[in-house]
Amino acid sequence: MATTQSSSFHLRDGNTQSPWQINPLSEALASKNDPPDTSRIYDAIIIGAGITGITTSLLLQKTGKRCLLIDGQQFGFGTTGGTSAHLNTFFDATYPEIERDFGKEAAALTAKAGKEVIAFIAALIKDYQIDCDFDYKDAYLFSETEKESKQLRAILACSQRAGIAVEEASENGVPIPYDQAILFKQQGQFHPIKYTSKLLEAYLELGGDLMENTFIIKNSFDGKCHIAESATAIFKGHAIVYATHIPPGINQFNFRCAAYRSYVLGVRLKDDNYPSALIYDMQEPYHYFRTHHIDGQDYLIVGGEDHKTGHGDPEVAFKRLEDYVRRYYAIASVDYRWSAQYYIPVDGLPYIGQFPNNAPGVYIATGFNGNGMIFGTLSAKIISDLILKHENSYGSLFNPSRMKPIAGFSEFLKENTDAAYHFIADRFTTKEIETAHAIASGEGMVVDYQGQKLALYKDETGHITALNPTCTHAGCIVTYNSAEKSWDCPCHGGRYDLQGHVITGPPLKNLEKISLENDD
Ligand code: FES
Repeated sequence: MATTQSSSFHLRDGNTQSPWQINPLSEALASKNDPPDTSRIYDAIIIGAGITGITTSLLLQKTGKRCLLIDGQQFGFGTTGGTSAHLNTFFDATYPEIERDFGKEAAALTAKAGKEVIAFIAALIKDYQIDCDFDYKDAYLFSETEKESKQLRAILACSQRAGIAVEEASENGVPIPYDQAILFKQQGQFHPIKYTSKLLEAYLELGGDLMENTFIIKNSFDGKCHIAESATAIFKGHAIVYATHIPPGINQFNFRCAAYRSYVLGVRLKDDNYPSALIYDMQEPYHYFRTHHIDGQDYLIVGGEDHKTGHGDPEVAFKRLEDYVRRYYAIASVDYRWSAQYYIPVDGLPYIGQFPNNAPGVYIATGFNGNGMIFGTLSAKIISDLILKHENSYGSLFNPSRMKPIAGFSEFLKENTDAAYHFIADRFTTKEIETAHAIASGEGMVVDYQGQKLALYKDETGHITALNPTCTHAGCIVTYNSAEKSWDCPCHGGRYDLQGHVITGPPLKNLEKISLENDD
């Protein structure tokens, strides 16, 4: 199966293809995008049409609020189109970590949130009769070393104390030798684009406005309402929601969240050894497994080999992941391979609510770690309640203004030492890599060319596109992502396509295009 997306597929922020992209749009969505009324003051402008933005828009529109949902590209273009779509009540921040850093009540509240969100997603699926392959699943977490087993026992005890249905297990659900395993009940999985596209349809049917391919370059507050500006239009609203992971511009969340990429394979097996549960090991970074039935065919979905954005070699990550799967499974073919971006928060929990140091009515939702489907939906509930002035029992725990002393702060500083390094060293030192002519067709690299750093990409016809590799966010030097054919920033996860257009924030401006002397 081809791994390059074509226009008949749902678009995504990269060159690889996730199976969720094979989902022909309904007529309702194909005929959307009527220009909104720019003279209107909306109740809320929601920027970013992934699971967070779409669910927030629907929840608000349902109450009679008038919403405008805006995306720089197409709905589901970012992580929602590249998630591995697990629905869990346990998270990348484990219950022992949440208990240690936030207390037992916070661990219980987080557990309650996870359970409620899965039930809420199931209810939306029922209410809107969404055919999105949703299934409740058991999930195994297993250890392979004595150190991991000790951690696993702590996870079992703290998870139970938090109110999670979890127990010791006598199997781990995959043909991988293990030491100990535990089983979480009532987890879930679904098809993220089938799910969000139907929520989007419901939103449009309620009269919600949608603007795709509209990149917001500036926001302001005139004392009465918020103003969002694209290159060609101005929109006004009483509230603004950044459902864009990191909010744009330079702000504290560039340093409170670190951008990571995760790698996923969709594999056909020679036998019928597909797992019936969701499975996770405890390696660093961990691997995850599940099965999805796509177009009459079962696929083993396996992920892992995560690394900080712009810091690893995607092809090496894919190879390691495939080698790992081949050790335990008889692979007939690897039909899908894709990567997606997520953000690790410094203290483990997401930041959801009023954007600190901004005018009232500006909201953010970020730092979901690898649990974006759950925390994206939770964000929609919290933020819509904030806008509607309803009580929400989770608002204070996830408040972006929390100033907790952080147990893992030294780890965070280490993470962001990278950012500081690139800030200074990459801007003011030069290191010859190669001249432009040494680039292979279909490849990109940053070179020193006539005393200037250039991001060069040579296409299959030999034409070279040259860009200024200085990230327009805060000046780090981008690196070439050979798998996704993009320019990725190693500092805060900003990403650009081969023409230099922003595909992932926080940058707001495109990379500068450079004319080469031999450029026609
Ligand atoms: Fe911050 Fe590039 S994303 S410098």
